[in-house]
Amino acid sequence: MPDNYEPKILAYCCQWCSYAAADLAGSMRLQYPANVRIVRVPCTGRVDLLHMLKAFEDGADGVFLSGCLLDDCHYVNGNYKAQKRVTEGKKILEQIGVEPERLEMFFNSSAMGPQFATTCIDFTGRIRELGPLYPQAPPEAQVLEASHG
Ligand code: FES
Repeated sequence: MPDNYEPKILAYCCQWCSYAAADLAGSMRLQYPANVRIVRVPCTGRVDLLHMLKAFEDGADGVFLSGCLLDDCHYVNGNYKAQKRVTEGKKILEQIGVEPERLEMFFNSSAMGPQFATTCIDFTGRIRELGPLYPQAPPEAQVLEASHG
């Protein structure tokens, strides 16, 4: 693993809670790693298994979903559905020889800015320890890098 390795992490955050928590973390000037690129989604229940796996194919080293607290989803049970899909995704990763820990589900309410920052710090640390997913970046990763600067 290169000395200066920094993981690329994609986070799907629901707009009602976790995206607001990320905003709050920013307002509170809490530091969290720039490794985490956030995609705002209406609900984590909107995130398909394909969205998670495609992120890895496109060069992400880790992917997480962050939704409303269980039983607080604005669309009733979207976060439960997302949690189930993440479990399925972990199984698929394992079957293809990828560490399932690279995919995770978290729950952060809009008031949990500090917890959201901690989530990002801890998950980035976990992925940093696992190392790059691809020994050599796939062509798609270069596209991801280029689009995020
Ligand atoms: Fe937040 Fe469903 S609205 S997880």
